[in-house]
Amino acid sequence: MPLKPLIDADTIADRVADLGRAITHDFLGKDLVIVAVLKGSYVFAADLARHIDLDVAVEFLGVRSYGDQQESSGVVQITTDLSTSIEGKHVILVEDIVDTGLTISYLHENLATRQPASLKIASLLHKPARTRVPVDIDYLGFTVDDVFIVGYGLDYAQKFRNLPYLAVVTDEDA
Ligand code: PRP
Repeated sequence: MPLKPLIDADTIADRVADLGRAITHDFLGKDLVIVAVLKGSYVFAADLARHIDLDVAVEFLGVRSYGDQQESSGVVQITTDLSTSIEGKHVILVEDIVDTGLTISYLHENLATRQPASLKIASLLHKPARTRVPVDIDYLGFTVDDVFIVGYGLDYAQKFRNLPYLAVVTDEDA
């Protein structure tokens, strides 16, 4: 599968450190929970958490999206729920990518019903060209074009999540 490098590991690390510093500043003295949406956000969430200089709890949401390989349908099933209540806590939902916005808007609505003290969104990537539901991303890594991106947690048919950088899947034979 031909890949073209898009964003290198150092550039990602610098940006994730910036986001971690911003979150640290914004949540000083607060009870913070970061909620990583599986699977794609596992790398970003792990790096982001290590740049948040606060007591932070880490939770995971297992999610299955009904749709084809390329596009989510917006019908999202929670396959693994949070292990504890978020009532009264400051929560940041962590995604690898906001594409149509359907997944994150469903999850935001779901978590909002659990009465957190606040609920913010962090996403490594945003693909505005594909927006179907506008989403306010409070902590955004990079805005990207409408291309198929892999690496740093993002997959193509479950492969490439372990690439340390972001790359574009191309149609060309390398
Ligand atoms: C990706 C990504 C988001 C969603 C974004 O998940 O992690 O959850 O798609 O798309 P949307 O904005 O169009 O809803 P995917 O279904 O590829 O699963 P994965 O995280 O397990 O790779």
